[in-house]
Amino acid sequence: METLEDLEQRVRNCTDCPLHGSRTNAVPGEGPADAEILFIGEGPGFHEDRQGRPFVGPAGNFLEELLQSIGMSRDQVYIANMVKCRPPNNRDPAPSEISACSKYLDRQIELINPLLIVTLGRFSMARFLPGQSISRARGRLRTVSGRHIFPIMHPAAGLRRQEMRAAIEQDFAKAPGLLDVLRMQADPAAAPEVREEPAEYRANPAPPSLWDMISTENPHPPAATDMHPAERLEEPAEPTIDEPPPGQQRLF
Ligand code: URA
Ligand code: SF4
Repeated sequence: METLEDLEQRVRNCTDCPLHGSRTNAVPGEGPADAEILFIGEGPGFHEDRQGRPFVGPAGNFLEELLQSIGMSRDQVYIANMVKCRPPNNRDPAPSEISACSKYLDRQIELINPLLIVTLGRFSMARFLPGQSISRARGRLRTVSGRHIFPIMHPAAGLRRQEMRAAIEQDFAKAPGLLDVLRMQADPAAAPEVREEPAEYRANPAPPSLWDMISTENPHPPAATDMHPAERLEEPAEPTIDEPPPGQQRLF
């Protein structure tokens, strides 16, 4: 059977779409085959194309900082992209390029079988939640075809705007709690008998349940017009950035 390394090698040799013609190196993705979290970005940028590795430029530095903020490091997670070769001048990947490349991401998801998929930005979110607006969907766990999807904004957007940086940090901080819940859900026998209340809840008389964060369906399908065609790297008009969906509690 094909291993993850075999697949990565197949990507390095791929010529299935025009992006192969302008790449220096394909960027298959990297991380352990048994990673609990799979991050999916958009596509390689300048530095990634040079090095053949995902998220090694400024956005990658921010991603590493975010991982550190939740006590993790990049060698514990798998980092992939929608397209594995750099679109010239960092233009948006074309739908035909995304669809030519999607077989590799599909296989990565199958082989890694992650507990949690974190989509970075609107392109990877659209793979699971087509037509939705990232400013509304971000920071909420969703289940799509049995996969647990947690959409957040792209780290590159956080480098450009402080309020997006804060939103990304806020969403990222939910990951450890989500992982705890998903681990327990996957293996209830492994749940500790006594779980110590997180310090931040102790002063709070009614701690919110993490289970509330899990929704199996989209309770608020956004209007098809939500996404502005000119939207690039998620720049929602204020005040949608922190607005909880109507009728929903924002938990953290
Ligand atoms: N941005 C992405 O979406 N992916 C990378 O690998 C690097 C920057
Ligand atoms: Fe192949 Fe994907 Fe690169 Fe296109 S972007 S050449 S489909 S690996």
